[in-house]
Amino acid sequence: MNNLISYISRQWNYFKNRFFNIVGKSQLNKFMKHIILFGPPGSGKGTQAKQLEKKFNMIHISTGDLFRYEIGNKTPLGIEAQAYMDQGRLVPDEVTIGMLKNRVNKHPEANGFIFDGFPRTIPQSQALDQFLNERGEELSGLISLKVDDEEIVVRLLDRGKTSGRADDASEAVIRKRIEVYNDQTAPVFNYYDDKGKAQEVEGVGTIDEIFNRLSSTIEAL
Ligand code: AP5
Ligand code: MG
Repeated sequence: MNNLISYISRQWNYFKNRFFNIVGKSQLNKFMKHIILFGPPGSGKGTQAKQLEKKFNMIHISTGDLFRYEIGNKTPLGIEAQAYMDQGRLVPDEVTIGMLKNRVNKHPEANGFIFDGFPRTIPQSQALDQFLNERGEELSGLISLKVDDEEIVVRLLDRGKTSGRADDASEAVIRKRIEVYNDQTAPVFNYYDDKGKAQEVEGVGTIDEIFNRLSSTIEAL
């Protein structure tokens, strides 16, 4: 009789643990959010992502910042990227995708990622989806900051006075970046829109106003 009670009790504990383990994991995945903060050059992605990262306890990854770090350290990756960046062109997909995956894999503890400046092409979008899928995760949504071209030129020329960024230093390169965005990057919005995952948020206003708009959008995802 004692053996039977002990057997039933062990079985009960086994099923109880398995059940709560499965439910627990699905709850965790539910709270894990991965967001693409999207928009043209100078639309405020970096400014906003730095604040959103703290508020939502997520990890902010800016591929532009990663490339600038490599350039600063004169690594082979930095030297390759610089030639493209200084002209306002995109760094080749294979290089960018590999760098992004490495960075994500460095944060197994992450509660979610804010991708800033990535993906910028359809192949990058497909690679990101596949990568998240292999991790048993998916993108929560893409949020695009809407800012018109003339505002962008004013913002970036102004930043160029102090940023030391070669791609902010001339209006011609800034306009080239906008052209590259329209040709190669804007289709990424449609790619996620077709999946019902893209939204647009007004990107002109005070930094706090835009932060509040983005926060409510993320909370609703
Ligand atoms: P990246 O560094 O990503 O540059 P970007 O997309 O051109 O955009 P910025 O970083 O200049 O602007 P932002 O939207 O972050 O705005 P910010 O907050 O700084 O990429 C640089 C290059 O790297 C690319 O051209 C490419 O060569 C390469 N690269 C990067 N990712 C790649 C990828 N995935 N594939 C291939 N190549 C890649 O704000 C801009 C300015 O506006 C600041 O001065 C800020 O203070 C000001 N500002 C912000 N908000 C406001 C506001 N509300 N009102 C007024 N001013 C504001
Ligand atoms: Mg930026």
